[in-house]
Amino acid sequence: MKFATSAALFAGLAAVSAQVNLPSTIPILGFPFGQQCQQTVLGLFTNSSFGQCFPAPALLPLLSSNGSIIPVLDNFMTELCYMQPCSNATLTQAAQTIEAGCASDLATSKVSNQTIATIFGLYPLIREVLCLKTSNPYTAQSYGGFLGAPPIPISSAYNQTNGTFCVSSVLTQLSAYFGTNLTIPFIASAVTGANSTAQQLALGIQPNFACNECLFGGIDVVEAAYPALGQVPIAAILQYANVSYPDQTATVNSLLNSTCAYKPLAVNTTQLPAGIVVSIVNSTFPNAPANGPATTMST
Ligand SMILES: *[C@@H]1O[C@H](CO)[C@@H](O)[C@H](O)[C@H]1NC(C)=O
Ligand SMILES: *[C@@H]1O[C@H](CO)[C@@H](O)[C@H](O)[C@H]1NC(C)=O
Ligand SMILES: *[C@@H]1O[C@H](CO)[C@@H](O)[C@H](O)[C@H]1NC(C)=O
Ligand SMILES: *[C@@H]1O[C@H](CO)[C@@H](O)[C@H](O)[C@H]1NC(C)=O
Ligand SMILES: *[C@@H]1O[C@H](CO)[C@@H](O)[C@H](O)[C@H]1NC(C)=O
Ligand SMILES: *[C@@H]1O[C@H](CO)[C@@H](O)[C@H](O)[C@H]1NC(C)=O
Ligand SMILES: *[C@@H]1O[C@H](CO)[C@@H](O)[C@H](O)[C@H]1NC(C)=O
Ligand SMILES: *[C@@H]1O[C@H](CO)[C@@H](O)[C@H](O)[C@H]1NC(C)=O
Ligand SMILES: *[C@@H]1O[C@H](CO)[C@@H](O)[C@H](O)[C@H]1NC(C)=O
Ligand SMILES: *[C@@H]1O[C@H](CO)[C@@H](O)[C@H](O)[C@H]1NC(C)=O
Ligand SMILES: *[C@@H]1O[C@H](CO)[C@@H](O)[C@H](O)[C@H]1NC(C)=O
Ligand SMILES: *[C@@H]1O[C@H](CO)[C@@H](O)[C@H](O)[C@H]1NC(C)=O
Repeated sequence: MKFATSAALFAGLAAVSAQVNLPSTIPILGFPFGQQCQQTVLGLFTNSSFGQCFPAPALLPLLSSNGSIIPVLDNFMTELCYMQPCSNATLTQAAQTIEAGCASDLATSKVSNQTIATIFGLYPLIREVLCLKTSNPYTAQSYGGFLGAPPIPISSAYNQTNGTFCVSSVLTQLSAYFGTNLTIPFIASAVTGANSTAQQLALGIQPNFACNECLFGGIDVVEAAYPALGQVPIAAILQYANVSYPDQTATVNSLLNSTCAYKPLAVNTTQLPAGIVVSIVNSTFPNAPANGPATTMST
């Protein structure tokens, strides 16, 4: 199953798209998604150089299946990280394809061409973050066994070359915390509040959940690209949620540093935390932090 050829996956996508009688508008986060735009997106994934470096078909099971998203994402990252990356030219062309094919939908939603170009320009960063791996993935014994066994434990069914994908490890930890498989219906019900138990659990997640080598690895990579993010005041962020925050001097980095000093973990854009590496073929991300030092297995 793993690493099916691109051709087979494209054939699969085409088959699914033929079966799924797409409605004329699928609003994605409120974005109108007309026929022409749908055809453009489908063509981009199935019949373009972008489709050769972004394995969208590997994400298709998310649309149709009712199972945990983690095995699907693990498979997606295996392909994304170990196939040739998109070149700048491919990304620029893909953005222009969307800008042209979705022009009227973009205009309706007041999304500028520059925004589309920026989104495609994030590919090297997103790939780098998704390709973070840990040598110390979540197990039933992690954190002293506090959260217990996840519904689907990490195993050799997931890619284990040079570690376990951080995304798989962190989501497995969340799955143990919620005590259920992370399926699309479950996530939707937790976000909308339809499952109030899940929503209460989500709101009850402790700040020290962030004190995880994987999450710091992701932050290190993001801040290597956007150093200014670390200096943003917490109060300015919470203002968006109409929440006031008393400490006007606290920034993203000072809060992260102080919350996780007990580990100890601190933001560092030149070297990833211990046990964290980027496992990737031909990274195109500039200024990547160095891999973290090896660590002995511990929980
Ligand atoms: C693939 O793209 C090329 C050029 O963009 C076009 O001529 C061809 O018809 C497309 N094939 C399919 C199956 O859409
Ligand atoms: C998904 O699974 C849940 C629980 O197993 C079930 O209640 C629900 O009907 C399923 N939904 C679909 C679309 O299969
Ligand atoms: C990485 O890029 C180099 C140069 O473009 C290429 O020769 C090599 O095959 C690439 N590696 C993989 C695994 O694709
Ligand atoms: C790709 O584009 C980015 C951003 O525009 C630029 O920083 C980088 O140098 C380009 N890389 C190559 C190989 O042209
Ligand atoms: C965006 O780019 C497309 C294709 O180049 C063009 O047709 C469209 O007019 C542009 N939209 C805006 C708002 O400039
Ligand atoms: C993990 O990735 C490596 C490198 O591409 C590959 O050789 C291996 O088959 C993959 N394993 C799984 C379980 O996907
Ligand atoms: C609601 O959330 C709880 C807690 O995460 C979970 O155990 C339960 O299975 C969820 N119910 C449904 C119908 O998804
Ligand atoms: C989670 O998914 C796995 C694999 O699909 C299944 O075997 C297991 O029963 C599920 N667990 C729960 C609690 O739904
Ligand atoms: C923001 O919070 C204040 C005080 O709690 C309240 O009076 C105000 O209506 C809120 N504004 C919005 C936009 O929710
Ligand atoms: C966070 O910790 C790092 C490493 O000790 C330090 O370089 C950085 O200045 C700290 N940042 C803040 C805002 O405290
Ligand atoms: C980042 O980590 C490296 C290696 O441990 C260390 O030499 C460097 O001082 C750290 N940088 C910051 C800003 O803490
Ligand atoms: C795994 O790690 C070894 C040693 O650091 C490295 O040579 C190899 O390229 C890595 N493999 C992958 C797929 O990242």
